[in-house]
Amino acid sequence: MKSLFLLAPLFLALSTTSLFILLPLYVYPGSQASAWSPATAAIAAYPKVQWQVIVNPASGPGTTGYPTDANYITGINYLNSYANVKTLGYVDTNFTHRAYSAVVSDINVYATWASYTETNANISIAGIFFDDVNNTATAPGSTAVSTYMQNASAYAYANVPSDITPVVFNPGSLAPTGLFSYCDTMVEFENTQSSYKNQTTINTIPSAYRDQSAILVYSITTANVSSLVHTMALDGVEAVYFTSDCCYNSLNGTLLMQLAAAVQAG
Ligand SMILES: *[C@@H]1O[C@H](CO)[C@@H](O)[C@H](O)[C@H]1NC(C)=O
Ligand SMILES: *[C@@H]1O[C@H](CO)[C@@H](O)[C@H](O)[C@H]1NC(C)=O
Ligand SMILES: *[C@@H]1O[C@H](CO)[C@@H](O)[C@H](O)[C@H]1NC(C)=O
Ligand SMILES: *[C@@H]1O[C@H](CO)[C@@H](O)[C@H](O)[C@H]1NC(C)=O
Ligand SMILES: *[C@@H]1O[C@H](CO)[C@@H](O)[C@H](O)[C@H]1NC(C)=O
Ligand SMILES: *[C@@H]1O[C@H](CO)[C@@H](O)[C@H](O)[C@H]1NC(C)=O
Ligand SMILES: *[C@@H]1O[C@H](CO)[C@@H](O)[C@H](O)[C@H]1NC(C)=O
Repeated sequence: MKSLFLLAPLFLALSTTSLFILLPLYVYPGSQASAWSPATAAIAAYPKVQWQVIVNPASGPGTTGYPTDANYITGINYLNSYANVKTLGYVDTNFTHRAYSAVVSDINVYATWASYTETNANISIAGIFFDDVNNTATAPGSTAVSTYMQNASAYAYANVPSDITPVVFNPGSLAPTGLFSYCDTMVEFENTQSSYKNQTTINTIPSAYRDQSAILVYSITTANVSSLVHTMALDGVEAVYFTSDCCYNSLNGTLLMQLAAAVQAG
């Protein structure tokens, strides 16, 4: 589903790295989206760094069409005002235990947000982040997993109104390589800093798939952010996120600035 191949030489000429930041923005936006300001400050400070920001009002979009909470309208409109941001809608698949019709319903709700005009806000969603993706490769029933995920991503590509519709799968661990053809980006590692082993972890990701792979590291205490990110960039990893907390429920502005600086440096 990579369609940017022809643009790659131009992209390389404009940017030192193609590594982008994949930010699960599950923090409640707060009044006037003030709780998101550590993220938007880093987005604004490093305009050459590309961000994909996952918005998640209710473990999904909620069932009511447009967000009923004005703070989400304000916050998503603010994210959309940055040229270096693409917003992704969070959709749970619960390892294929969630009814496929519920997945479709979530995608339909996000798709409608492009038509929102009530307060002159732009809350359009550019792509979909599928969480809890089943990484079963060989167990009986694995064909069902790949059919479910192929269906889900095809539905997102067809229905989310965006030029490129980034689709991210998050198994949080190594995925069967057959699943890569259904998404743009696969989260191949999502774990604590103590589990993240720099080059050793990157080496577990098949080299042919690193340019479609994201690494999300949480529970960071102190990390040599620039060195770890530099190693990812050298190895052609596609996307990264580092956070101090365990569950994407708080933002660390200092760490976000360090991460953005490191990604820009490549
Ligand atoms: C809304 O924001 C997105 C992301 O920046 C942009 O692609 C889209 O063109 C905007 N829509 C309108 C109607 O301005
Ligand atoms: C996910 O599926 C399992 C097994 O069917 C179920 O027990 C669990 O409640 C589901 N979780 C969510 C968040 O829906
Ligand atoms: C993954 O899918 C397989 C096949 O449908 C299923 O047996 C298994 O329970 C799923 N894995 C998890 C963690 O739910
Ligand atoms: C995949 O989509 C097809 C066509 O819409 C549908 O018949 C099938 O049940 C879907 N399969 C899964 C596993 O969701
Ligand atoms: C990460 O691994 C690279 C390659 O082996 C090494 O050069 C670098 O010093 C390491 N960084 C840290 C913080 O361990
Ligand atoms: C970070 O790692 C690099 C490469 O291993 C090393 O040169 C540098 O001194 C480290 N910085 C800190 C603050 O530890
Ligand atoms: C935020 O990140 C900085 C830089 O990595 C770190 O020193 C600090 O302890 C972190 N703060 C929290 C509350 O985790």
